[in-house]
Amino acid sequence: MLIYLRNNIHLGYSLYRDKEDPERFRKDPQVQTTNIRLLPYTKYLSPHSPRWRHALRVVMGLILLMVASSSTWADSLQVLHWWKSTSEHKAVDFLAGKLTQENILWRDAVIPSGSGIGAGIVLKSRVLSGNAPEVAQLNGVLIGEWAELGLLLEFDAVGSVGKWDKILFPSVWSLTQSKGHVVAAPLGIHRINTLFVNRKLFKKYDLALPESWDDFELAAKKLQQAGIIPLAQSSEPWQLATLFETLVLSEAGAGFYNDIFVKKEQSAFFDARFGQALKRFRSLKKWMPTPLQDRSWDELARQFADGGAAMMVMGDWVKAELNAWGLATDVGFACMAVPQTENYHLYDIDTLVMLAGDGSHRAAQERLAQLVLSPAVQVEYNQIKGSVPVLRNPDMSKMDSCARTSWKLFARGGSTQVPSLAHRMATDETSKDAIIAEIYRFFMDDQVTVNDTQRRLGAIARSLKKI
Ligand code: GAL
Repeated sequence: MLIYLRNNIHLGYSLYRDKEDPERFRKDPQVQTTNIRLLPYTKYLSPHSPRWRHALRVVMGLILLMVASSSTWADSLQVLHWWKSTSEHKAVDFLAGKLTQENILWRDAVIPSGSGIGAGIVLKSRVLSGNAPEVAQLNGVLIGEWAELGLLLEFDAVGSVGKWDKILFPSVWSLTQSKGHVVAAPLGIHRINTLFVNRKLFKKYDLALPESWDDFELAAKKLQQAGIIPLAQSSEPWQLATLFETLVLSEAGAGFYNDIFVKKEQSAFFDARFGQALKRFRSLKKWMPTPLQDRSWDELARQFADGGAAMMVMGDWVKAELNAWGLATDVGFACMAVPQTENYHLYDIDTLVMLAGDGSHRAAQERLAQLVLSPAVQVEYNQIKGSVPVLRNPDMSKMDSCARTSWKLFARGGSTQVPSLAHRMATDETSKDAIIAEIYRFFMDDQVTVNDTQRRLGAIARSLKKI
């Protein structure tokens, strides 16, 4: 009997579920209200009355609890992350299953929040209150910041035995280290500057795939005339920022992108190219739903998949979601670069860190770090998640066209790789939030002019931490 514990912190309930029947877990509305739900063992006991059945369930629950918490497991790791969509669940289930094979229980602490904003807050408060999980999803610049505070476990031996310096892309290898120590286990690389196109709609209205902004405008106009929303978009600040950073890259290229979002040079905020990106951002508004709503990225992907919207700009986790719903890459949808960004990989790297704690979980934490970098796990996990392996030499045979393009571009290294602002790769959290707040304000309020925003950001840039 294979079980693992899903401990959903934000709703405050614990569940034991049958690993062979994950769909039932997902579809069952009772999951939201039940404290301990048992599947499907009770059907084998003859139920005489609801009370009797209830009593049996409780007894079975206790037995399962004892089995789970006693002899079976060598150790357990609570893993805090923010993944909650269909494909994200699958990716988590896959990793949890691998850990189970090692006799280690994956205790799931999911704080659903697009791009991890809520998860970051919960993680911080749990660490401050002395109740840290053993493992957490922590991306980008935050890794170094947390390591400097002494909160992360160093696992240099795992890195050296696994030859991480040789097998990882150099930029990924440097992300996993702080002051010469290995402190993070990278899972996969997402590409942010991705334009998804609904092939059925484009075929129906005889539209060319948009390789330039002119193509994009032409297609958007025809789609709107046909009553279709050309571009799916949410008003969530991180989702707006995800679109906006691709526009900065599109208008001004990688050098300028780095000046403005990594170095935070004040003059860059006054540059005409930044003004141009703001103008493009606002001009895209007419192709989005009105009023713009605060919707999760997977809701938007659903709208796109159902033909309610024809295009979507978002990281390639959307690809994984569409695949999980049965839409095949290149058939149901096209996965392209946002116009004028074909030569860039605007990246976001998903990473796990191990919280140091009292050191009593070190062996299990190190095993997990080892596992996520094994070639087979890298291939399968990334296929499910929509990202690409962090390895220099992965098995590419099962990658679809979207993943191949992404991996090959990233492998070029150098100025091809551009760190995402919205997904914490470019700068510290305070700077990121300050910039996104202004971008959001500009977009949501048409009274705020391009010049206002440039002036405000220029003033803010003076006080932001420089690298
Ligand atoms: C990103 C993360 C992705 C995906 C996305 C949407 O920051 O790297 O894996 O989860 O947020 O929540």
